[in-house]
Amino acid sequence: MIVAVVILFLFLGALWYFAFHCRPANFPSGPPRLPIVGGLLSLGNPPHLGLRRLAQKYGPIYGIYCGNYPGVVLSDLKLIKDAFKDDRFSARPPLRPFLERSWGHRKGLIFGSGEEWLEQRKFAIKAFKELGMGSGRAGAVIEGEVQELVSRLRGEVGHPTAVNHFFHIAIVNALWHLVAGFRYEYDDPKLQALISLTGDVVRFRSLDSSSFWPNVLFFMPWLTRLFPEVSRWNRFLASFRAIFPTLQEYITQHKEQRTAGGADRDLIDLYLQQIEKTKDEKSSFFGTNGERGLLIVLLDLFVAGGETASSNLTWGFLFLACFPEHQARIQDEIDRVIGDRLPTLVDKPRMPFVEAFINEVLRMVTIGAMSIFHSTSEQINDFHGYTLPKDTIVFGNFWQVHHDPNIWGDPQNFKPERFLEPGTNMHENLRVFSTGKRICPGEAFARDELFMFTVGLLQVFKFELVPGAPKPCLDPVQAATLRSHESQVIIRLRQ
Ligand code: HEM
Repeated sequence: MIVAVVILFLFLGALWYFAFHCRPANFPSGPPRLPIVGGLLSLGNPPHLGLRRLAQKYGPIYGIYCGNYPGVVLSDLKLIKDAFKDDRFSARPPLRPFLERSWGHRKGLIFGSGEEWLEQRKFAIKAFKELGMGSGRAGAVIEGEVQELVSRLRGEVGHPTAVNHFFHIAIVNALWHLVAGFRYEYDDPKLQALISLTGDVVRFRSLDSSSFWPNVLFFMPWLTRLFPEVSRWNRFLASFRAIFPTLQEYITQHKEQRTAGGADRDLIDLYLQQIEKTKDEKSSFFGTNGERGLLIVLLDLFVAGGETASSNLTWGFLFLACFPEHQARIQDEIDRVIGDRLPTLVDKPRMPFVEAFINEVLRMVTIGAMSIFHSTSEQINDFHGYTLPKDTIVFGNFWQVHHDPNIWGDPQNFKPERFLEPGTNMHENLRVFSTGKRICPGEAFARDELFMFTVGLLQVFKFELVPGAPKPCLDPVQAATLRSHESQVIIRLRQ
């Protein structure tokens, strides 16, 4: 009996020591570090609210162990800006899902790190510019997709329609036009398969519907090795791998057309040109390594540029149905500024309420609640008095920033007018596209899409709640992004 008590005592003592003292020297304090799971259990569900709760307890900078990985959560905009403008905070963590999709390396635009990522990002930003993203040429492409969607939605007028499925194809088409030089027909089976597979990956649908499980798998990769079937890791990986043959087909077609004298029409052409030009063996554009890079960049753009913008538009149209007064004010602005002619991006500066509405949707839902994890590329000895080891995962807690009462006053209320109040400069605090070295390179294009689809659809239609049905739930579903629940609205033609 005494022996058992002593063993229990020693065990609890060891646990206590591990939880509170087994941290690097001068690491920010935070929830206890338990063996194996670290501080993950204290996050709870959904994680973005857990991060917020912990910020209220431990302050704007706290340390949390994610399994065995040290992590630091920054919940104040100044802290996030200080970190994210620093090269040493601009790596991505070497987590298994980020590595396995690109043959064990941190490759591509989203999950790349170091010199290779810098080279790819520089290329992408230049290519986006050459292709007219955020300017006239891309504007015309978006305008075409808006009109195509308007004519499709005419067929849905008068009966309940799932708002979650309005936008994805139109958004992918606008982007793909610039990336791969073509648009899909709405019922193209290849497109449907690609959207479904990337959806699997982004929403972790193949892993599990609960939000906690993917977090566990992210940070405890040994579980996926031990139980590849039960953990559904194999399915997750299969979804990635099933996307590659279609993307490879587009590359092959472009190569054939280029040798037959094809011009530099789109991003694939520009990338192939870069591969041809590159003679430095160490470059990420060199030879077969370059071609693999292109495959990953296409995957990155399909995921980053499709799901994000279409999910934000879905949220926007749900808010429009829930708040008819804002819808009426936008339509009033459309009637005054545009009238009956087709809207264009030139109208944007003269439509401040539309901009305010879009900003408020972006703020309220903050689909990238924690952005994409950053990590430290070396030990940092001097970050606001703390020491962070190499490979510390850095979470920008943007959800907290966008719901901080000290900044927004009443963040829980949906209030586009807050962006129009004279003497305030609220969009300075809005960082949905992140900040610093890894800021979203698609922001200008995404904002053009949000503007054009909002204005183009509201010029022709009204969106209403389904009479007699429960009001749509405006709490997000947690996945890689914060998505809306499946919801229906009624589309009516404006008189
Ligand atoms: C409303 C739509 C969008 C939102 C809210 C959004 C938000 C974000 C966020 C939060 C990040 C992570 C930044 C960081 O790590 O600090 C990001 C990265 C990225 N986004 Fe977007 N994005 C959107 C649309 C787009 C579009 C349309 C494109 C492509 C044209 C795009 C391309 C990318 C790429 C390539 C990255 C990786 C950048 C890097 O790691 O260097 N995004 N985006």
